[in-house]
Amino acid sequence: MRFGYFDDKNREYVITRPDTPLPWINYLGCEEYFGLISNTGGGYSFYRDARLRRLTRYRYNNIPMDEGGRYVYLRDDESGQFWSPTWQPTRLELDEYTCRHGMGYTTIHSTFHGIEAEIRYFVPMGENLEVWQLKLTNHRAAPAHLSAFSLIEFCLWDAQDDATNFQRNFNTGEVEVEDSVIYHKTEYRERRDHFAYFACSEPIAGFDTQREAFMGPYRGLDRPLVVEQGQAANSLAHGWAPIGSHQVRLELAPGETHQVIFLLGYHANPASDKFDPPGSQTINKRTVRPVIQRYLQADQVESAFQTLRDYWSQLLGRIQVETPDVHTNRMVNIWNAYQCMITFNMSRSASFYESGIGRGMGFRDSNQDLLGFVHMVPERARQRILDITATQLDNGGAYHQYQPMTKRGNNDVGSNFNDDPAWLVLGVCAYIKETGDLGILDERVPYDNQPGTETSLYEHLRRSLRYTVDRIGQHGLPLIGRADWNDCLNLNCFSDTPGQSFQTTTHKEGKVAESVFIGGLFVLAAEEFIALAGHLGQNEDCQFYDQAACQMRSTVLGAGWDGNWFRRAYDNFGQPVGSKECGEGQIFLEPQGMCVMAGLGIEDGKAVRALDSVAERLATPHGIVLLQPAYTHYYLELGEISSYPPGYKENAGIFCHANPWVMIAETIVGRGDRAYDYYLRINPSRREEISEVHRCEPYVYAQMIAGRDAATHGEAKNSWLSGTAAWNFVAITQWILGIRPDYAGLRIAPVLPSHWQSLKVQRLFRGVRYEITIQRSGPGNKVSLTVDGQPISGNLVPLPQDGRKVITVHATVG
Ligand code: GLC
Ligand code: GLC
Repeated sequence: MRFGYFDDKNREYVITRPDTPLPWINYLGCEEYFGLISNTGGGYSFYRDARLRRLTRYRYNNIPMDEGGRYVYLRDDESGQFWSPTWQPTRLELDEYTCRHGMGYTTIHSTFHGIEAEIRYFVPMGENLEVWQLKLTNHRAAPAHLSAFSLIEFCLWDAQDDATNFQRNFNTGEVEVEDSVIYHKTEYRERRDHFAYFACSEPIAGFDTQREAFMGPYRGLDRPLVVEQGQAANSLAHGWAPIGSHQVRLELAPGETHQVIFLLGYHANPASDKFDPPGSQTINKRTVRPVIQRYLQADQVESAFQTLRDYWSQLLGRIQVETPDVHTNRMVNIWNAYQCMITFNMSRSASFYESGIGRGMGFRDSNQDLLGFVHMVPERARQRILDITATQLDNGGAYHQYQPMTKRGNNDVGSNFNDDPAWLVLGVCAYIKETGDLGILDERVPYDNQPGTETSLYEHLRRSLRYTVDRIGQHGLPLIGRADWNDCLNLNCFSDTPGQSFQTTTHKEGKVAESVFIGGLFVLAAEEFIALAGHLGQNEDCQFYDQAACQMRSTVLGAGWDGNWFRRAYDNFGQPVGSKECGEGQIFLEPQGMCVMAGLGIEDGKAVRALDSVAERLATPHGIVLLQPAYTHYYLELGEISSYPPGYKENAGIFCHANPWVMIAETIVGRGDRAYDYYLRINPSRREEISEVHRCEPYVYAQMIAGRDAATHGEAKNSWLSGTAAWNFVAITQWILGIRPDYAGLRIAPVLPSHWQSLKVQRLFRGVRYEITIQRSGPGNKVSLTVDGQPISGNLVPLPQDGRKVITVHATVG
């Protein structure tokens, strides 16, 4: 069952009924001002940090779901009837409803009793504000006398404190109202130099800023007293809960359309110029008025919207494909790339599942996210790399997370997730392959942000690998520390106390438990590093890591091999995890994907055996589960993984982040049909027709789909902010379609499904547009290339030396 449809031409998903199984979300903003917006106008806004600079409130875990947002109430001032053109929060049945989620904007359109309403929400590029463009049309035969009431609820900035510290917060709220603009200035009088404003393009009939006055006692958002009565109370907030609401009265003749623009924004003043007149306690508004005036004009708003559209066309235009499959095309060309950019902006901070107050930016997460957006925003990826690297510790380890505002490592979570440093190598190499910017390796970057500790980025990479080499266990495999990629495999935790954090509690010394996965990851990262070091003529490093990788390879193929698949780990007692010897958790997905990606077992057939075991034991119609059999009870020696009910999350859920590793591995052993089959199983567009089962948005990947042991097999959770976005993009574009950036050019090495006869790819690579056609000439994967009509040998298309900006590549595969 579907709840909408794709409009690929406009790069939109169109939702045709408001009661989707879960709020289906989109994001506004791509620089510093951001918001989440659901298909019924729910969500919130913030400046840079969803916790510390939260503009508006939102209650996760509310009843009903998804309340609090960017609302407009429309009221027929003759009959007294009122409704929400975005359906929530009144939930009155609309005669027509559509929500279009596009690239950085959302438009909700509806009709109720002859009044058509359209609201378009977006954030203009370069500004710290959002625009709500409301257009009302009267389709009745008679004139319509309407009131429009806007509504937002201000957050007192720190979203965590706002939801907990009531003895203080019920006293601090302050506002100012001037003309049609409501200013929220809680704490501005003392240490803050920023405030929020909520403006309206029309003369207003009234306003409200005190929630209680607007709502009336004990009423819900579905029937505020002021709206019911049709008259704003002109309330001024003193403490309690400041809100922003304008009342606009409109008289629309039959057929008439009228536009009202609302702006919600964030503005900071220089500390020395906060007040006007100086010495008063009144906000200095001289600095913000020009911005407000500009965006209250319809023509300015239209041109800002066009700029936003152009921005996205340009980003997405860097890779465009035409394959025989619609789901592949729309995910690659539109939604998967878009989701990668959202993970760049948000990391794991704010979604319908991530409350915006919890996690900072993950070290491993950010490095993996980079793989998905580096081709779109290479300059910003460069800065991201330098920021991440500055949180590395001098022993090569890393803070597991860092805070986006301060860019400092997060002490609460700390370090010792032993896979973390290796991902930096993969991130940096991907960046250099994309851009050719070897110069980044000479950048001087500190450790733990401590001035005076700077070394070259190259040295950081060395220490990243060294970190693994220095931490080897009794089987010769890397020690796992608190966890590796699987945050919930906590082999040194041994927690029996409710509420303890599995990630930060460590009861064992950590000198025994080892990870096969990190072994594979180390080989992969070392290979990447060796190629780079070779490029730079760093022969000693090449030799050292070549030997270390060799050693690790034979260890993984020995102690890491279980007979038909790679083992997962060794626990604190030296017992294997992910082995046929185990009662539960006999086989895990991660080491099969990672070890084959690292090239392990290709020659001796172990790779194929491992992948066949995945197909037999882990693959389901909804995707590949993380392990089997699921853990049915809690194992002290395994940690959080066995805390989840069977089939959910890391306990045998379909972790979509790790599925692409198997897709890539399948291409490495040459099995395009299987790789593509796995790709389609979790492709959100492909799953659109089972939206009642999948339940999450059909246009973006979710972190997890419930596994076969779950009561709700096939149900997705935690959409948007997941490494799933980057890895699926890499799997389909670089391995199945096979278009891979490399140091000296673009590699063309497709491993396609056998029924695909031909496809086209446009790829902008270092300023050169590669126009690639791929044609099947037989059943195999052997590639022959011509470049601008000339045959070349091998599968690497070098950059043109003669300044050509467009080249035509023809590949036959067979
Ligand atoms: C979450 C974390 C990621 C981790 C994964 C598996 O997605 O953000 O760092 O690798 O879970 O546990
Ligand atoms: C929890 C989640 C897991 C995530 C981790 C990150 O353990 O279950 O998916 O990776 O938190 O902090």
